[in-house]
Amino acid sequence: MGEIVRVENLFKSFGDNHVLQGASIAFEEGRITSIIGQSGTGKSVLIKNIIGVLEPDDGDILFHGKSMVHASAEERAEMRRRFGYLFQDSALFDSMTVAENIAFPLTEGRGEKDRVRIRDVVQEKLDWIGLPDVGDQYPAELSGGMRKRVGLARTLAVQPEVLLFDEPTTGLDPVLAETINELITKVNQEFGITCILITHDIQATFRISDYIGFLYDGKIQAQGRPDELSGTKHPVLRQFIANSFAELEV
Ligand SMILES: Nc1ncnc2c1ncn2[C@@H]1O[C@H](COP(=O)(O)OP(=O)(O)O)[C@@H](O)[C@H]1O
Ligand SMILES: [Mg+2]
Repeated sequence: MGEIVRVENLFKSFGDNHVLQGASIAFEEGRITSIIGQSGTGKSVLIKNIIGVLEPDDGDILFHGKSMVHASAEERAEMRRRFGYLFQDSALFDSMTVAENIAFPLTEGRGEKDRVRIRDVVQEKLDWIGLPDVGDQYPAELSGGMRKRVGLARTLAVQPEVLLFDEPTTGLDPVLAETINELITKVNQEFGITCILITHDIQATFRISDYIGFLYDGKIQAQGRPDELSGTKHPVLRQFIANSFAELEV
């Protein structure tokens, strides 16, 4: 298993706000890699550059060793189809049922027309997230944690190679957050999907990640396996870790 995605010397500014200033990190195939960092440091901006919602000012993003930034529009679209995302707010369509939401990337994205196949995929994903009976309900009828799971089912419907999660547990109570963390581990282990996780939930990150990068001041300032990073000499990261574990004791 080699690397599947590489972020290389990425720069992104918004006017005078120099958010990314040479960020580099490689993501290993089949692993869970997390980017941690304080709020507002550019974690979401980094992820948006990877999925193409934002264009970098400089630097590159490689997928299987191939530049996504310099690829033709057609090649880039083909590469992006192999990524799945779970955004902070799950971004479900309120006017569609849960089943229609899960089917959406299949029908609209892939042009799948076989109704029986669509129904089977939807049910399989609902079963997998542990919500077999909510297909006919609307997102507004579900709890935040359930919507998150439906969002995950929707991305899984098109069998991505890489799944990106932006703050998947933010705003959930600790028990629900834990079920989402377990699902991420399960997605990774059962399907072998490479997971890229953006979070400020340090404790969970250290538990479920194979590899962690610390984004600070526009760059990945420290990176390594959780056991390597927990003994870091980087002063800001040390403080960041210490603070998040101190919160536990309050
Ligand atoms: N589309 C945008 N236009 C202008 N500024 C943005 C945009 N997206 C993010 N930013 C700015 O980039 C910085 C990093 O934001 P973000 O990546 O969301 O932080 P994080 O996810 O680490 O909390 C913030 O200062 C934010 O205001
Ligand atoms: Mg963010």
